[in-house]
Amino acid sequence: MNKYLTVDEAVNILNAGGVVAVPTETVYGLACMAENPEAVSRIYQIKNRPADNPLICHFQSIEQLMEYIETPLEAALILLKHFTPGPISFLLNLKKESTLKAATGGREKVVARIPSHPMFLSILKKLNKPIAAPSANSSGKYSATSADMVLTDIGDKIDGVVDGGPSSAGIESTILSFSDTAINILRPGVIGPDDIKEVLKSSNIALPVLYAQSAEVTPGSKYKHYAPLTPLVFIDSIANYHPNKHFALITVDEAELPYQVDANTFSLGSIHKPEEIAANLYRTLFEMDQLQLAKAFLYLPTIPDKHWQHTLYNRIQKMIQHT
Ligand code: TXA
Ligand code: MG
Repeated sequence: MNKYLTVDEAVNILNAGGVVAVPTETVYGLACMAENPEAVSRIYQIKNRPADNPLICHFQSIEQLMEYIETPLEAALILLKHFTPGPISFLLNLKKESTLKAATGGREKVVARIPSHPMFLSILKKLNKPIAAPSANSSGKYSATSADMVLTDIGDKIDGVVDGGPSSAGIESTILSFSDTAINILRPGVIGPDDIKEVLKSSNIALPVLYAQSAEVTPGSKYKHYAPLTPLVFIDSIANYHPNKHFALITVDEAELPYQVDANTFSLGSIHKPEEIAANLYRTLFEMDQLQLAKAFLYLPTIPDKHWQHTLYNRIQKMIQHT
């Protein structure tokens, strides 16, 4: 069966309660109608996702989102208007008796995102309904940033994939939550605290913007995440890498290798272009996995940009985090 779908084929399958992978500007999403409990439960099975980890929901516009949520705080509204459609998500209060509780596992808040990828936006507009779409990967593994990565991981379990090319950001969206006293970054991403503060400043809002990831708020953050299949070891000096045909090294352009670059050596890019490191990270883990080696080593020196240092290490730390 051909697993590659057109936008219209994907719309028909979703409408009938199916599960398909869709491209987004962050990572590929595993999509179903958010208000369909059976389709939602299939996503948990396909991903082997813990039942206490709710699904992020995607909307075609702010107007559509407003039909589902209580009026957000002013800061949330300003940031929604400024950054969406785009790689950012908002934890917001659902209206009472919400039909989205199938996707949120009964929670009264939803993580909501309006994506900018034109193919996904087109699917959302044609369906005119919210779509639940966690990252399109087996639970615990790195997210897929291309259609071939999705098919290699979960191709036999899904109804198809819409190929929208490589995801431009390559890491998952920034997730924000709001209170009267602060804006919390629950998951760091391409959009960082300085970008957020700048937008608020022009509206005369001076709330602190804090990194405040909490497993209580976003249950997904307590699990091992983003890991390759090949056992991965972190090294804080390149001198700790002893090349061997059974080992791979993943590093950056600045690393001074004590040996000749070979097929088992991967560079994520330059530490002065952290967006490129982010865009290459999961793809590189995928390519490294194809070599089926005994072990991989990751050497990533400090990234000069503080927000990117925090964001990339957030992902990397979780690759070895166990619960
Ligand atoms: O960029 C992204 O956000 C991608 C694309 C496909 O949109 N999606 C994504 O989904 O990364 P996922 O499920 O892999 O990560 C969403 C995170 C998880 O840590 C989950 O626990 C949290 O958001 N989350 C989702 N709904 C929530 C809710 N109602 N309350 C608290 N946390 C929630
Ligand atoms: Mg995920």
